[in-house]
Amino acid sequence: MVDAETIANSRIDIQVDKIRRFQVRSDDIFVITYPKSGTTWMKELVPLVLNGGDIEAIKDKAPDARMPYIDFALTSDLLVKNMLSDFGVNEDFDLNKRMSPRTMVSHLEAKYLPQQIEEKKCKVIYVARNPKDVAVSCFHFVQALLKRIDNSQCYKSFSAFLPDFIICKNDAQHVIYDGSLWKDHVLHWWSRRHDSNVLFMFYEDMKQDLTGNTRKMAEFLEVKLDDNVVEKIADHCSFDSMKKNPMALKSDYCSQRLKVNPTHDSPFVRKGKVGGWKNYFTVADNELFDSHYKVWIKDSDLKMQFDL
Ligand code: A3P
Repeated sequence: MVDAETIANSRIDIQVDKIRRFQVRSDDIFVITYPKSGTTWMKELVPLVLNGGDIEAIKDKAPDARMPYIDFALTSDLLVKNMLSDFGVNEDFDLNKRMSPRTMVSHLEAKYLPQQIEEKKCKVIYVARNPKDVAVSCFHFVQALLKRIDNSQCYKSFSAFLPDFIICKNDAQHVIYDGSLWKDHVLHWWSRRHDSNVLFMFYEDMKQDLTGNTRKMAEFLEVKLDDNVVEKIADHCSFDSMKKNPMALKSDYCSQRLKVNPTHDSPFVRKGKVGGWKNYFTVADNELFDSHYKVWIKDSDLKMQFDL
């Protein structure tokens, strides 16, 4: 007799296999991020860079439709879909019908991404964010999720959440992506940062100089943009401007899964700060985090900015 867990696992294997074997086009563009690192931001920026800054052309298109999650777009199994819907949108986007260049996002680890990304040398933009701010952003996201499922399961404080984020224990299922995975995620793409098809970006750099980073992105995507267009895009994608843009805030995930109004309570466009973690970490939290972080990056020259 096969139990439900075995069936679920085998279904996940089938879905993973489907994603791995997905036929990519050589001009496909993938934005890969660890959750809470600026994915929503990229869904506003990348389409505008590609269309030459034509805000009118994207203004009626929801961010998830502009750049779908490859994982969900390729997942047809209902059971897996229900499970995966905890990670993002739960809509069907037929990737094969999309015009080139297709733009897609994913939080998946490199080992689960379509194999052909490597073979066809598709462009990959990777965005990394310092893991202390990621942890806080994740905390708000998880709290919203738990509140919706069962209020009593919410974490009592950020300090109660942090150990579950750092080391994903089996019973801490709600953390979804844990900190040790952050290390594998970011370090993989950091080691690939000099590849000609990879652009490694930092959330903190984008916060400091969005115009310069938009220009960098345009050069990588081989789009010629006048300086005034680059500035227009950067201005449109600033945090304050996105916070006031109903379409940038539109999220089926917020409305359907979290039952919150994305215009007021979106965990996808929330505070947008660098160093906001200082309002949440106690001295003991910080020591705990640093002791793990030191181990995560001990063999790497990666330097994250925890403050500006
Ligand atoms: P905070 O929760 O720290 O505010 P993702 O889209 O990968 O889930 O990431 C969400 C995080 O990116 C949130 O962080 C959100 O506020 C931030 N973000 C979204 N748009 C942004 C923008 N235009 N500028 C800066 N941060 C932005």
